[in-house]
Amino acid sequence: MDPVLFFCDAMTSTAPSSPVQATSASGVATASQSASQSASQSAAPPAAPTVPPTVVPAAREAAAATAATATSTASPDRFERADWVSAYRNVSVELDDLPLTVARGEISAALRGTLYRNGPGRLERGGVWFHHPFDGDGMIAAIRFADGRATLRNRFVRTEGWLAEEKAGKLLYRGVFGTQKPGGPLANVFDLRLKNIANTHVVRLGDDLLALWEAAGPHALDPESLATRGLTTLNGVLKPGEAFSAHPRFDPGHHGQPRLVTFCLKTGPSSTIRLLEFACEDGPDGVKAGQLLAERRDSFRGFAFLHDFAITPNWAVFLQNALDFNPLPYVLGQKGAAQCLKSRTGAHGQFWLVPRPGSPMAGQPPRLVPAPEGFVFHHLNAWEEDEAVVVESIHYADFPSVGPEDDFRDTDFDAIPEGLIKRCRIDLERGTVETTLLSERCCEFAMVHPARQGLEARYGWMAVAQRPQGNDPLQAIAKLDLKTGEQRVWSAAPRGFVSEPIFVPDPEAGGAEDAGWVLVPVWNGARCASDLVILCARTMAELAVLELPLAIPHGLHGSFVAQPHSQRQA
Ligand SMILES: [Fe+2]
Repeated sequence: MDPVLFFCDAMTSTAPSSPVQATSASGVATASQSASQSASQSAAPPAAPTVPPTVVPAAREAAAATAATATSTASPDRFERADWVSAYRNVSVELDDLPLTVARGEISAALRGTLYRNGPGRLERGGVWFHHPFDGDGMIAAIRFADGRATLRNRFVRTEGWLAEEKAGKLLYRGVFGTQKPGGPLANVFDLRLKNIANTHVVRLGDDLLALWEAAGPHALDPESLATRGLTTLNGVLKPGEAFSAHPRFDPGHHGQPRLVTFCLKTGPSSTIRLLEFACEDGPDGVKAGQLLAERRDSFRGFAFLHDFAITPNWAVFLQNALDFNPLPYVLGQKGAAQCLKSRTGAHGQFWLVPRPGSPMAGQPPRLVPAPEGFVFHHLNAWEEDEAVVVESIHYADFPSVGPEDDFRDTDFDAIPEGLIKRCRIDLERGTVETTLLSERCCEFAMVHPARQGLEARYGWMAVAQRPQGNDPLQAIAKLDLKTGEQRVWSAAPRGFVSEPIFVPDPEAGGAEDAGWVLVPVWNGARCASDLVILCARTMAELAVLELPLAIPHGLHGSFVAQPHSQRQA
């Protein structure tokens, strides 16, 4: 799932939140509540001014970071731990298109569409807090932009487990990341039921919004109302319960029309990948958006934990991390399944290069190439170059394990490996890999311009730590020049904590690769609520800050769906 936030932030964060937004045992407020009621229910303590962000060109980073640290109240931890812990909390209300307050700046009228975010919005049941935030139930937030204004709607995904636990008022399921039903191992032994929590990602496919969780099937939602339509097999493509990745990739049109490319994974002593390619738009030949266009299956030796992958026009690129899985403690009710993963010390992973359907190599078997040591959750991008495939990813020195006895609030960041962005050039003829470190700054959640997906990109935008080296919570956003290494950084430190940035191209800006906006959910520790910050993607200057009346669940993923030109007013 999700690295720095997942194993670092999260470990220190699943703690009872401040009374201000703690959810009552009765659960989420109903959708019929008015926006003002909802807003007041989730009202935060008296607002303190948000710390002015900084735009820091690469050459000034060190000095600026030093200055920021020197003025922080967080010393020696460089941030206020209580602020950071407070980012993880129950969301107690569901809002209906609440107009958002623009606290600073203004929203460009050219920014039109919807930012969808998914994340764990429910972290407690019956007074029992989940062991890990990523065991929390998925909540979708939709921030719609039009005519220089923005509104917010949010809904929990009505999964079978969420509905049952809402009714029971207590935990009925174990969590993959270590949440146990009350009662110790005896209450959990041999209970191997999965609660599909639908909390990891949210994307549009055809007429559905899909709430994704990689260990089971997708939930379909109404893209406008966010009402849960239910588990979907995508018109019979998926078998019931088939594990459907939470990390689809959007092919901008390498094979004609845009496609959503994704995979299903079945793992054990051997692993099988089912690669799936769906149409994203209606086509002139009768193809409908959401229709399956192509698929293939390939099996590989060994256990696989594949959270993400990358695509080029002709390849799907997977990285099989060197991990072992011993399920016994899970079966015996002592650990969650993810707590049974362990790095194979000193072992290398393996790249699996699967020829995409429609490529000249479509009938060929996958290529297997040894990967560098370490662990990867997320990739930035991949492309083809002569006889090579190049993939940029966020690497960790090791797989950070989560112990059942760990106290979330006391994580020592200096003891946990940071994520570092690296470029691996995979020579297809020699079967070798050349690795280059692109930045020494701790990072996660990186993306390129959507039109450069699968092609070499000049720029990447990513969440980063405030200081230029060392592991910390993610408090800033960097624009990294992938050619020169130059960075521009906007920071929300010391009291702000960022989630995944989403780059949105400006349709009226002429197509430059960095012409657009970066949308950033920020947990504002001073205000005890989330902000949505809009940055200029080119300069990283702050353009607007929208103050939300509640928390957007911290961490995990989102996507932007642009308003079609046909629906825009002149
Ligand atoms: Fe992820």
